[in-house]
Amino acid sequence: MNDSTWDVVIIGAGAAGLMCALTAGYRGCSVLVLDHANKPGKKILMSGGGRCNFTNLNSAPTDFFSQNPHFCISALKRYTPAHFVELIERHGVEYVEKAAGQLFSATSSKAILDVLLTECDWAGVELRLKTSIESVDWCDENACYTLATPKERVVARSLVVATGGLSIPSMGASGFGYELARQFGLEVLPTTAALVPFTFSDLWKDRFSELAGITADVDVECGGVHYREPLLMTHRGLSGPVILKASTHWQAGTPITINWLPDTDASETLKERRMSMPRRRVSTWLKEKLSQRLAGALAEWFELECTFAELSNAHCERIGALLNAMRLTPSGTEGWRTAEVTLGGVNTHEVSSKTLEAKLQPGLYFIGEVLDVTGQLGGHNFQWAWASGVACGNAL
Ligand code: FDA
Repeated sequence: MNDSTWDVVIIGAGAAGLMCALTAGYRGCSVLVLDHANKPGKKILMSGGGRCNFTNLNSAPTDFFSQNPHFCISALKRYTPAHFVELIERHGVEYVEKAAGQLFSATSSKAILDVLLTECDWAGVELRLKTSIESVDWCDENACYTLATPKERVVARSLVVATGGLSIPSMGASGFGYELARQFGLEVLPTTAALVPFTFSDLWKDRFSELAGITADVDVECGGVHYREPLLMTHRGLSGPVILKASTHWQAGTPITINWLPDTDASETLKERRMSMPRRRVSTWLKEKLSQRLAGALAEWFELECTFAELSNAHCERIGALLNAMRLTPSGTEGWRTAEVTLGGVNTHEVSSKTLEAKLQPGLYFIGEVLDVTGQLGGHNFQWAWASGVACGNAL
């Protein structure tokens, strides 16, 4: 079997791995990137609906979830959204700001991946795809790692684990990074699918399914945190940015609260309308505020096919509470099949926030989503991939 020797071997040709590779390559390291997938950067390609929401200008440590909330600060401070914008501008990639601070490629996600691959090429990085890693061993005496692959044995002074999270296994996601962490004595915190739609069973599944494709601007509360964004009804439950964000706070069995009319005190308005326009139908008022079909559905669910005059005070209070704070409990989430990210992962207390090196295992580094660092929806996850990749690449 052939042997090849490198300064750095990176497992995972995703966002963090490629960024780390080009950074280390420019610093003069010989760098080999291994990936078992047939293409690099598959999640970059599918991200942002094919337009890659590659950063968020307002990205701050408070946009990240981790059991060690301070961990991400150092890397994020040293490599900011402006740095990444400067990189893609050098390559002439055009971009647009959609929601506040969220930057997307103006053309396609491929434009972002092409920047990384071009830079890797210029930095002399070698990329080997369709390569599975059978084993990883550390030799104390020679202070190096040996990786066995079906075709060759690869030896490296430094090993960077950039295998990402568990979401979308069909795109190459695997738990290999967690296995390596455990092999070298690091703790892996429990993992959960996040930025993921909610599913419902029974009555609510049927109700939302009938409205599949309809959106509404609502406020959703989950775990005490509120988000106001568009909601999307689906054949299995609820999705849309407001649900994906709320899912980062959700635990099985807990309810969410939907405010269908976030700008209106519904019970006060119902009482006021009872005096000012008693003969009007409540459903007509709802149709002024929401799409026809959603308003019709709410009127049916809450038995509002009546005039304002027919409502008692208690009725107004009860319906107001349903419209402003409808509580219901998802039966689950769509899971790893559609989740954008993984909550949890390699315990960051055991990794240096400056270099991303494992504190007790020399030459072993963890970057990107494999770590217990998860960004909120809106470009924060890629910003973490870039920033952690650069912090590590500069330390190799
Ligand atoms: P990433 O998953 O990118 O890369 C890991 C690499 O490791 C893969 O190439 C994989 O094949 C490889 N690998 C895994 N196991 C291996 C093994 N055993 N052997 C060899 N290689 C292995 N974020 C954001 O900021 N803006 C956005 O618009 C979106 N949109 C989005 C859409 C969808 C559908 C998803 C699923 C995710 C997003 N994200 C996102 C999240 C973002 O894609 C994610 O956080 C980053 O890609 C994480 O980068 P990493 O490099 O850590 O992992």
